This record gives sequence, structure tokens and C-alpha cells, in this order.
Amino acid sequence: MQKRRLFIGLGILVLCILMLTVVACSNGPNSRPGGSGSNVTIPDPNENGIVTAKQWAEIHPDIYASYMENLKNDQMPSYLLQFPYLVTLYDGMGFAKDYNEARSHLYTLQDVAETARPHALANCLSCKSPELTVMVNTSGDSIYATDFAEIYGKISEPVSCYSCHANTNGDIVLSSKFLINALGADASKVNSNILACGQCHNEYYFDPDSKAVTLPWNGIDKMRPDDILAYYNSIKFVDFTNSISNTGMIKIQHPEMETVLGQGNKMQIMGGLTCSDCHMGIATNTAGDSYISHNWQSPLENQALIDSKCSQCHNNLAKTVGDIQSEITARETVVGQKIASLHQAIGKAAADGSKTDTELAELRSLLRDSQFYWDFCFVENSEGAHNSAFARNLLDKAEGLVDQALAKF
Ligand code: HEC
Ligand code: HEC
Ligand code: HEC
Ligand code: HEC
Repeated sequence: MQKRRLFIGLGILVLCILMLTVVACSNGPNSRPGGSGSNVTIPDPNENGIVTAKQWAEIHPDIYASYMENLKNDQMPSYLLQFPYLVTLYDGMGFAKDYNEARSHLYTLQDVAETARPHALANCLSCKSPELTVMVNTSGDSIYATDFAEIYGKISEPVSCYSCHANTNGDIVLSSKFLINALGADASKVNSNILACGQCHNEYYFDPDSKAVTLPWNGIDKMRPDDILAYYNSIKFVDFTNSISNTGMIKIQHPEMETVLGQGNKMQIMGGLTCSDCHMGIATNTAGDSYISHNWQSPLENQALIDSKCSQCHNNLAKTVGDIQSEITARETVVGQKIASLHQAIGKAAADGSKTDTELAELRSLLRDSQFYWDFCFVENSEGAHNSAFARNLLDKAEGLVDQALAKF
């Protein structure tokens, strides 16, 4: 697959937005399967500055049709019903009330509006609509702190073409400032098909003052869980206070990029596979032309992908993945239940005075760090498949810390 040029830096991005109709942003010779040649006239952007998916439909009918197939990925079973101990771990924050599995990119705006988790500010829309991204890039970080409902009323496009291509004809363009800022000079070290997804499939936090989406690292060497925890602890960052143990906690969100790129990954053994290699793949239309599927799905549901890209090394990919996922999920439950019992034990000790303040502070610190490692594994959407060694390592660390604390009772 031809590697796409990666446009980095807000300056270049803004320039590209301004020069949309000019060929300045197109990428030289166009030899893409399903591409419509280099003479594509890019439609005029909508009032929020994006060319919508629908506007691309005539130019890229196959890609558009595959994008719309994402509507079929519409199920979102509740994690809280599957794993009741989560209610204790997340007590005091929205995830204890409503926490469902993710579904496809086309539902982002619907899901963010329907969740029972409270969201006051527009920063919640960052990874839900490219229209918010354009607003931040043109009007600045103050958009993040704007009232949620005000911005929600102005936008209508879920994750779509602009999110990964800006308004270009299929070039990968990163438009999320927070990722560009965190990567700095390292942007060229990572494959752009990974970074495109890493704009949203990452661990982030809201800056306590500006409310801006911010990544807890600078440079990819600092993207490791140990360093991220050290960073959060150094700024005493608290996402929520668990109301059972009265502990200031960190909440992790979907760290797919960190896991895929993390220590122990087997991507190089597999020939340098990227997110799009495993989740998009080449499809063929009725006329026999091939195009890149934009139906983001599990590789296990994509037999054509398995046949063309995986089966030379995997004779039973479903089993390989299934074995890892059962092992990791079982272990998450064991460790998660220990963490739940530690919340209870600390809450009880604080109430009956059986531990001193110093002892309680030490226990809470172990609890906070343990749940950080556990959550980094639990909320990663592949359930260990992306990097089983990394997942095991996180659970080892989480269990070591929670055992150390429980031994003090
Ligand atoms: C602009 C933000 C954004 C980008 C970029 C993005 N995603 Fe997503 N992705 C999301 C969000 C948000 C969800 C969850 C949607 C929901 O549940 O409402 C999601 C869901 C998914 C799902 C479905 C998960 C499930 O459980 O069914 C897959 C698969 C996925 N993304 C893969 C990718 C891949 C591969 C890339 C890169 C090619 C990518 N995403 C880029 C935001 C993004
Ligand atoms: C979540 C990220 C993401 C979104 C959203 C997205 N794309 Fe893509 N697109 C990619 C990636 C990644 C590739 C490159 C895949 C590869 O090289 O394997 C790609 C490739 C392409 C290409 C080049 C295909 C080729 O033959 O080389 C075109 C054209 C394209 N996308 C158009 C679109 C259109 C139109 C939309 C909206 C309907 C869209 N994309 C939405 C990530 C995305
Ligand atoms: C080597 C192949 C491979 C690569 C590379 C890869 N994934 Fe995955 N991904 C998988 C497998 C296998 C699963 C588990 C699928 C299942 O449970 O059916 C998965 C699951 C997921 C899920 C959950 C999907 C669901 O339906 O529950 C998301 C989201 C996801 N990956 C995003 C990404 C992102 C983002 C990247 C790049 C940063 C990436 N993946 C890289 C193979 C890969
Ligand atoms: C060049 C050979 C090769 C190709 C091609 C390949 N894999 Fe793999 N894959 C491996 C090897 C080797 C392992 C490690 C097996 C083990 O640990 O038992 C592996 C492990 C995995 C794992 C588990 C990762 C982990 O950290 O334990 C997943 C998931 C996976 N492959 C998915 C895929 C998918 C999806 C494709 C096709 C898109 C693919 N692989 C293509 C060789 C390959």
C-alpha cells in the first residue's frame, strides 16, 4: 500500500483549509484502487468547514457505501450488567451509571447525546464530530469550554471523511491539535494509518484550567503507562473521587494507539500491520474494481481480509484471538474484584477509624495506581488482542499493587 503523505502542523492545516479548491493539498500521482483520478473537484465545504460524507458519495461511491455499512454495527451491550464490580470501581462518576460497549463511527453524535453520563462542555464532542475539530482549529481552545448544548445544536456530522482526510481526496491529514502537539517531532516516526486512528483511540484528559483535550505525554517515548501514571501523579490529576473509598482516581479511556504501539507488540513480526490493515482491508465492487473498505470492523468478521492478509500465518485466527480475550477478561475480573474489595475496605477503615490518616493516604495511593493499570487494560477495546504481552503486564502491575494494599488489612 502506498504510504500517504502526512500533513502535520496547524499552520499547514489551516493553509490547506484555505486552499481547498486548489490542488495544493492533493498528493501527486493518484494510483489508488477505487480512486477517481487526480482531476477530482472537491465539493464546497458546509457552513462548518467540512466536506460531508454525503458530498463525497458521487466521487467515491464504493467507499461511501462501505462507510454507510457501519450503520449495521449498532449494538452496545452494557458493561455494567456483564461486570457488576465496575459499579464499585467507578462509584462517584458517570461510568457507574451508564457504560455501554462502543458501536460504529456513524453513531457518535447520537450516543454522546443519549448517554446518561453528564457532559456540560463541548470538549466531549472532540472525537465525535470533525465539525468541532474545525471550530477548535479556527477559533481556538475556548471552544472546548463552550456549553455542550450550544455547540451540539450547530453540528450534524459524526466521525467522517474529514476526521482522517480533512477536505482532501483521501490523503491522511491529522487535524487533531492535541495529538500533533503530543507527538512533536515524533510524528514522522509512526505510520500515518496508525496516527489517523490514534487521533481518537487514545488516552486523554481535559486540562483542568482550559478544559482542552490534552494527551498525558510529549514524545512517543513518554507514551508508556508507567510514564503516563507518573505524569498524572506529578500534576496530582483527579478525574473523579470514588465515593466509597474517598480516593482521587484517574479514569482511562480507549488507549488503542498506546497499546498497539506499546512494548511487546507483535506488529513487526506480522510485517508492520497498521490499524487500517486489520480493520479496513481491500474490497471488490460488482464491476470487479477494488477499493478500500471504510466499514471499520473486527478482522474476525472480514473473511476476505483474513484470506488475503492473515491466513498465510494464522490457520485459526478466531481461536488465537478468542484464547487471548478469555484469558485477559478472566484476569481482569479477578483483579477488578480485588480492587473493588479494597475500595470497600478503605471506606470501612476510614469510617471506623481503624487506620491512621497516614495509613489511609498510603492505601489510597496504592489503590489509585492499581486501578490506573487495571483500567488501562480493561477499557482498551480489543480485550488483549492488540498486544497480549502488554495487557498481561498491566494486570500484573495492577494486581501487585492491590495485593500490597490488601495485605495491610
Ligand atoms: C474522530 C475520532 C475517531 C477517529 C479518527 C477514529 N475513531 Fe474509531 N471510534 C471513535 C468513537 C467515538 C467510537 C465509538 C462510537 C460509539 O460507540 O458511539 C469509535 C468506534 C470504533 C469502532 C467500533 C467499536 C465497536 O466496539 O464496535 C472501530 C472498529 C473503530 N472505531 C476503529 C477505528 C479505526 C481502525 C480508525 C482509524 C482508521 C478509527 N477508528 C478512527 C472515534 C474515532
Ligand atoms: C477513521 C479514519 C477515516 C475516515 C473517517 C475516512 N477514511 Fe478514507 N482512508 C482512511 C485510511 C486509513 C485510508 C488508507 C488505507 C490504507 O492505506 O490501507 C483511507 C483511504 C481513502 C482513500 C484512498 C483510497 C485508495 O484507494 O488509496 C480515499 C479516496 C478515501 N479514503 C476516501 C474517504 C471518504 C470519501 C471518506 C468518507 C466517506 C473517508 N475516506 C473516511 C481513513 C479514513
Ligand atoms: C494485527 C491486527 C490489528 C491491528 C494492527 C489493530 N487491530 Fe484493532 N483489533 C484487532 C482484533 C483481532 C480485535 C478483536 C476483534 C474482536 O473481538 O472480534 C480488535 C479490536 C479492536 C476494536 C474493538 C472492536 C470491536 O468490535 O469490539 C477497536 C476499536 C480497534 N481494534 C481499534 C484499533 C485501532 C485504533 C488500531 C490502531 C491503533 C488497531 N485496532 C490495530 C486487530 C488489530
Ligand atoms: C507474517 C506472519 C503474520 C501475518 C501476515 C499476520 N500475523 Fe498475526 N501473528 C503472527 C505471529 C507470529 C503472532 C504471534 C503468535 C503467538 O504469539 O502465538 C501473531 C499474533 C497475532 C495476534 C495476537 C497478538 C498478541 O499480542 O498476542 C493477533 C490479534 C493477530 N496476530 C492478528 C492478525 C491479523 C488480523 C492478521 C491479518 C490482517 C495477521 N495477524 C497477520 C504472524 C502473522
